[in-house]
Amino acid sequence: MCGIVGYIGKKQAAPILLEGLKKLEYRGYDSAGLAVRADDGEVTVVKTKGRLSRLAERTGSGALLHGTCGIGHTRWATHGEPSEENAHPHKCMDGSVTVVHNGILENYRELREKLVRKGYTFHSQTDTEVIANLLHYYYKKYHSDPIDAVSRFMMRARGSYALAVLFEDYGDEIYVARKDSPMIIGAGRGEMFIASDVPAILKYTKRVYYIENYEMARITREGAEFYNIDREPVEKRAVRVTLDENAAEMGGYEHFMIKEIHEQPQAVELTLNSYLSGDYVDFSECKLCDKFLETDEIVIVACGSAYHVGVVLQYVVEKLARIPVRVELASEFRYRDPILGKNALVVAISQSGETADTLAAVREAKARGIRTLAIVNVRGSSIAREADKTVYTFAGPEIAVATTKAYSAQLAVGYLLALEWARIAGRIDDVQCAAYIEELRNLPQKIASVIENKDAIQKFAAENSTVTDVFMIGRGIDYAACLEGALKLKEVSYVHTEAYAAGELKHGTISLIENGTVVFGVLTQSEVLEKTASNLEEVRTRGASIVTVSFEGEKTAEAKYAFHVPRTDELFAASLSVIPLQLLSYYVSLQRGLDVDKPRNLAKSVTVE
Ligand code: AGP
Repeated sequence: MCGIVGYIGKKQAAPILLEGLKKLEYRGYDSAGLAVRADDGEVTVVKTKGRLSRLAERTGSGALLHGTCGIGHTRWATHGEPSEENAHPHKCMDGSVTVVHNGILENYRELREKLVRKGYTFHSQTDTEVIANLLHYYYKKYHSDPIDAVSRFMMRARGSYALAVLFEDYGDEIYVARKDSPMIIGAGRGEMFIASDVPAILKYTKRVYYIENYEMARITREGAEFYNIDREPVEKRAVRVTLDENAAEMGGYEHFMIKEIHEQPQAVELTLNSYLSGDYVDFSECKLCDKFLETDEIVIVACGSAYHVGVVLQYVVEKLARIPVRVELASEFRYRDPILGKNALVVAISQSGETADTLAAVREAKARGIRTLAIVNVRGSSIAREADKTVYTFAGPEIAVATTKAYSAQLAVGYLLALEWARIAGRIDDVQCAAYIEELRNLPQKIASVIENKDAIQKFAAENSTVTDVFMIGRGIDYAACLEGALKLKEVSYVHTEAYAAGELKHGTISLIENGTVVFGVLTQSEVLEKTASNLEEVRTRGASIVTVSFEGEKTAEAKYAFHVPRTDELFAASLSVIPLQLLSYYVSLQRGLDVDKPRNLAKSVTVE
C-alpha cells in the first residue's frame, strides 16, 4: 500500500532514498517525502503531494538535503486524503521522533485521544502521526531507549505496520519494526538499507535480512541488531536474493505493463520448466509430496486477478481430478467462519505474497488445523513464509499495478497442480499426463503469437477508446477469462466493464444493453460455444456491438470484430484468450492518456484491509 525506504552509510542519503522510492512507487503514489539527518543532528523533512517527481524537484534530486542517514516514503492514502500535511514522514510534537509507516494502526483513534489528553497536538489526519507521538510519549515517560519505546508501541498497537524511525538522541541509528506489512533490510559494506520490497535495494546489495512479525531492529552503518517484542535479542543470518537488478527495469519498453505482457511467454516457460521433469510434474523442490496434496476438498482463497486464476482452476481441477473446488474471496473467507473438512486443502494465490486479506485467510485456515499451500511470485514474502508449502511462480518482479505475467504464471502452476491431483486420484494415466504436458510446453509460443498480433487490438482500441460501458461474457473457463479481462479494462482505462456468465445475462442485466453497447464474447469451450453464440445474438439484436475472442479457424458468432488465438487444449484456453483482453486494456488506457502503470486509486500490493 505504501513504500518505505531507509539508508544509513557513507554516502549522501537523499539521492539513494529517492531512487529507492522510485522503485517502490508502484506501491502507492498519492504523496511522498524524505527525512534526512544532517551531520549536526538536525532532521529535515521535505514532503509533497502527488508523484515522486515533485519531491525530486523540491529536493534537487536529493542534492539539497545533506546527511548520510535518512528515511523516505511514497504513500497510498488510508487515513487522511492525499495532501502535503498527511504525507510521510511524520514528526512527533517536539520534532524529536520522525516516522514513516506502511500499514494501518486500527486503534489510532483511542491512542490519539489518549495523547491529546496528555497534551499532544496533531497537524495531520494520519494514524502515522499518532505513532510518532506515541513513541515519543513512551520514550519520555519511561526515560527509555528507542528499543524500549518501540516495543511498548508494539504491545499497544493493533493493526499492521512496517515502521522506520529516527530518534533525535540516537543520531547514527534507524529503528524499524514490523507486523503484517512487508519490510526487508539490506546489508551493504559500511551501509545498510531498509525497503518495503527487494527491487528498491537490488542496485546496492543482494544480502537481505527478513524481519518477522513483532520484531524490531536497531540499524547502524555496521549492521543490524534484531529484537523480539520482549526486547530479547534475535539472531538472524542474511540471505542472498537471486533477483536480477535489470529485471525490475523498463528495459526499453514504454511502460512496465506492456513489458510484462511481452514477458509472459518466458514467465510461463520458466515457471513450467521449474516443475517439469520430462513428461512428469515434479514439485519435489517445494517439498510437495502426494501425502500433502491428497485431498477431497480444495478451497482457493485470493483477491483480484489471483481470485480470477482460482476461478479458472476450479473448472480445470474439477474436470481433470474430479475433486470439489471452491474459490473464495479472501476478504470474505476470513470473516465468514468457513466450513472446512478436516482433509481440506486451502490454496492461497498471491503475486505479492503480502495481500492482507489473503494472508489473513491463510492464518484462518492454519488456526483451524487445515493444510495451506501458497502460489506466490515474491520470494520470502509473508504468505510464502506462513503457508505450510509454497509453489513459487517464476514471473520475475512485476512492477505494473495491473498484473499480467504473474497471472499467467499462476495459471501455469495451477495446471500442473491439477495434473498432480488428477494423477493422485487415478483420474489420468502417464500417457494422458504426458499429452497434457506436451500441450503445456506449447503454451509459451502460443502466447507469444497472440502478442505478435497486437496491432489489430491496438487498432480496435484506437477506434473504441471513448467507450463507456463494456460487457464481457462467456461460459465455464471463458467466463473465468472474462472476469480477468473486465478487471484489466476497469483498472487501467477506467471503463466500466462487467464480466458476466453468458447464461446469466438474460436474468436482468440484459436490460442495460442498448444501441452501441460493446459486448465481448469469449468462445473457446466447445461444449457451450453455441450457447454463448446464442447469448451474443440476443444482445446483438438489441443493438450491442459484438467482439469475439475465439480459436483460430473457429466461426463462432456474428461479430463486428473477431480476435483469434491459437488452438490449445480447452482446459488451458484462458492462458490465451486473456492476452487480447490484456492488450485491449493497455491500448485503451494509452489512447485515453492515462497512467497505465500507476492507475488512480490503486496500489500494487494491498497490504491493508
Ligand atoms: C490485478 O491487476 C490487481 N492489481 C489486483 O486485483 C491484484 O490481483 C490483487 O490485489 C491481488 O494481489 P496479489 O496477487 O499480490 O495478492
